[in-house]
Amino acid sequence: MKFVKALSCATVLAGCVFSSVSAADMTVGFSQIGSESGWRAAETTVTKQEAEKRGIDLKFADAQQKQENQIKALRSFIAQGVDAIFVAPVVATGWDEVLGEAKDAEIPVILLDRTVDADKSLYMTAVTSDLVHEGNVAGKWLVDTTAGKPCNVVELQGTTGSSPAIDRKKGFEEALKGHDNLKIVRSQTGDFTRTKGKEVMESFLKAENGGKNICALYAHNDDMAVGAIQAIKEAGLKPGTDILVVSIDAVPDIFQAMAAGEANATVELTPNMAGPAFDALAAFKKDGKEPPKWIQTESKLYTQADEPQKVYEAKKGLGY
Ligand code: AHR
Repeated sequence: MKFVKALSCATVLAGCVFSSVSAADMTVGFSQIGSESGWRAAETTVTKQEAEKRGIDLKFADAQQKQENQIKALRSFIAQGVDAIFVAPVVATGWDEVLGEAKDAEIPVILLDRTVDADKSLYMTAVTSDLVHEGNVAGKWLVDTTAGKPCNVVELQGTTGSSPAIDRKKGFEEALKGHDNLKIVRSQTGDFTRTKGKEVMESFLKAENGGKNICALYAHNDDMAVGAIQAIKEAGLKPGTDILVVSIDAVPDIFQAMAAGEANATVELTPNMAGPAFDALAAFKKDGKEPPKWIQTESKLYTQADEPQKVYEAKKGLGY
């Protein structure tokens, strides 16, 4: 394979002549997690659009939240001899073997939006946000907003064992350190889905005096926050006022909730991980230069002061 030749040149035989294959000749296999959230659906749409723009043949596999399906998809991509593999890994562990198989087949792998606990030599680069920082930004917002007032916090975690669930928890807890007015009183997974976010929030509300003991919700993504907002309303409380709501993703629906005063803040995660990934592949193909191991995307905080209705209007067409 021409792309493989470029990889070998870069890593083994410095100075050899690189292939002239254009992006339009490339076939890329993409193992997507599923469609658990609005953000995930947007990432799928944007990845397909970015491939089409570049004339890349994208082979798409939906793993329906199962790592075993992702491993099968990766093996199938390897057997087909694709030029590169993109994978959004559902959980962080258990990748060494299959990534080793891709490496043996000299097929570069790019991680999208989540990281893995594996040797860095097993993949070419990871296009992700700083997931710890995202949790930290959310936590700092809550520290500043509560300004020393006592506040019991409930946390809706993402998928157990996924890097965003681990890192967003860590970053948030780090931000709360030394601010004893803030206490995380309940923390449970809502699996990044709206339905489970609502279900788990209902149980939090029940356990905490109908919600009267809860001052803030931190959700690892907007979809869980939107589900929880519904649960808070059904419990007769006002989300955004009685219970502060801070989450991550910045999908259009959370801006609608912010415009209605029912959510307070969100940290943006771009759904365009594929654009930088395709660019890194193209640059590598052109001159054999490997990208850095981490291509970091931005994390921007939005609050109710940022004209949420306007942001909603601007975002709603963009793949969401
Ligand atoms: O890995 C990114 C996370 O996965 C998003 O924040 C969440 O919405 C998605 O399911």
